[in-house]
Amino acid sequence: GAWAPASCLCLRLLSTLLGRRRCCGFCRRPGEPPLDLGSIPWLGHALEFGRDAASFLARMKEKHGDIFTVSASGGRGVVPAAAGTWPGAWGELRARVSPWEPGSHAALARLRTLVHRDLQALTEAMFTNLRSVLLGDATEGASGWREVGLLDLCYGSLLRAGYLTLYGVEASPHTQESQAQDRAHSADVYHTFRQLDLMLPKLARGSLSVGCRSREWGKLGPATCSSPMLTVVLMDKPSQPAVTVGNGLLLLQGNTGPAAFWLLLFLLKNPEALAAVRGELERVLWRAEQPVSQMTTLPQKVLDNMPVLDSVLDETLRLTAAPFITREVVVDMAMPMADGREFSLRRGDRLLLFPFLSPQRDPDIYSDPETFKYDRFLNADGSEKRDFYKDGKRLKHPSVPWGAGHNQCLGRGYAVSSMKQFVVLVLTHCDLELIRADVEVPEFDLSRYGFGLMQPELDVPVRFRVRP
Ligand code: HEM
Repeated sequence: GAWAPASCLCLRLLSTLLGRRRCCGFCRRPGEPPLDLGSIPWLGHALEFGRDAASFLARMKEKHGDIFTVSASGGRGVVPAAAGTWPGAWGELRARVSPWEPGSHAALARLRTLVHRDLQALTEAMFTNLRSVLLGDATEGASGWREVGLLDLCYGSLLRAGYLTLYGVEASPHTQESQAQDRAHSADVYHTFRQLDLMLPKLARGSLSVGCRSREWGKLGPATCSSPMLTVVLMDKPSQPAVTVGNGLLLLQGNTGPAAFWLLLFLLKNPEALAAVRGELERVLWRAEQPVSQMTTLPQKVLDNMPVLDSVLDETLRLTAAPFITREVVVDMAMPMADGREFSLRRGDRLLLFPFLSPQRDPDIYSDPETFKYDRFLNADGSEKRDFYKDGKRLKHPSVPWGAGHNQCLGRGYAVSSMKQFVVLVLTHCDLELIRADVEVPEFDLSRYGFGLMQPELDVPVRFRVRP
């Protein structure tokens, strides 16, 4: 179900039978946000929510204002829907809402150590693997121009290289043979991963059988490689026994590929933006000690000095990152809002933040919020722009693709450096063009709201080659 406990209906029936009108999840108590039950008993808004959560939540906001509670599948979701109501309130709340299911804390701590202590090593390994996957594949059989789907190209490259980086490679230092094996193996992993990824909305909504789930996840089992990185364990949720530890980690890498896809597509559709990124790249690479073709790693100095590319990335994520940030309320409590009002929340409510609507597409914060503007996150002097306002107040988090506060994305540094390295490699080593220059930016696959990066409804055909 969209949000768990399903016992309310039984309670309601029971209380009706007993002739006592006790209040449960189906009525609004004093001090609580407006409650919208929807027209279908128990199911509430579950169907509309699953079909297109963004439109549904925008409608609810229109109807009820900045904060409301909706019912779905017997549970209650409380939605603070205005940027000003959080994450100030979020910080207040964290002690009383449950961030992750029990059992995953130790795993997260291990990953935290890895991505913080070893970020440099991860970044270097990622560059080697990206080069091998992106450039090696092309030299192997198919040199010259290829027609491919842009999503497939980006997703495949980042997922495969990310898999090799975190799960280990055949042999290090690399030989040509071991790299070819890594490419073949990682291509298999990507293929299976992608099949599962396409089922993810259904998997998450529980509309696939457990047997089917176990079978599919089992295929991704990490039994075939013996890297010590495998001990990095994530999200081994008790409620999903078939999701082995390693798979959880793989699943977390499902965002970088689609992000790189949107980024490159926006560049291909905006020649001015592409020229600005290329210009920046030439300047920064020209200052580097080595020609880019000989670089075995991208110096951190290069990665850290690309404000135009940073702005393009921020703008891409503003437009396409749409995670639900949800927490379960574990005790009855009062939630203070930024404007001084206070609302009561009940134990068992699910608090749901959806930054995609606000702040990310809030017209009070961003002019033309639906439009890609490559320099939106740049000041006039070319430095990073951090000041955005709503109702005259500066926003602490003008865009929230990584979540905020206590549970902010742990892989952020690694994800950013992976995406930037990929874009740099494509722009410096490859030719990439749209097959039809007038192709429209595709619509979102609407079933994917809540999972992180949005994916397109259809892939975009491109012509691609590694430069001779
Ligand atoms: C474009 C890429 C990515 C985006 C947009 C993204 C976004 C997010 C968001 C929004 C959250 C917060 C969820 C919440 O508060 O409920 C999160 C959490 C997390 N992410 Fe990412 N992520 C990305 C890539 C990665 C990668 C590559 C890794 C690891 C290899 C990773 C590891 C994690 C972990 C471990 C958490 C949980 C942190 C915690 O609860 O303490 N992420 N991510």
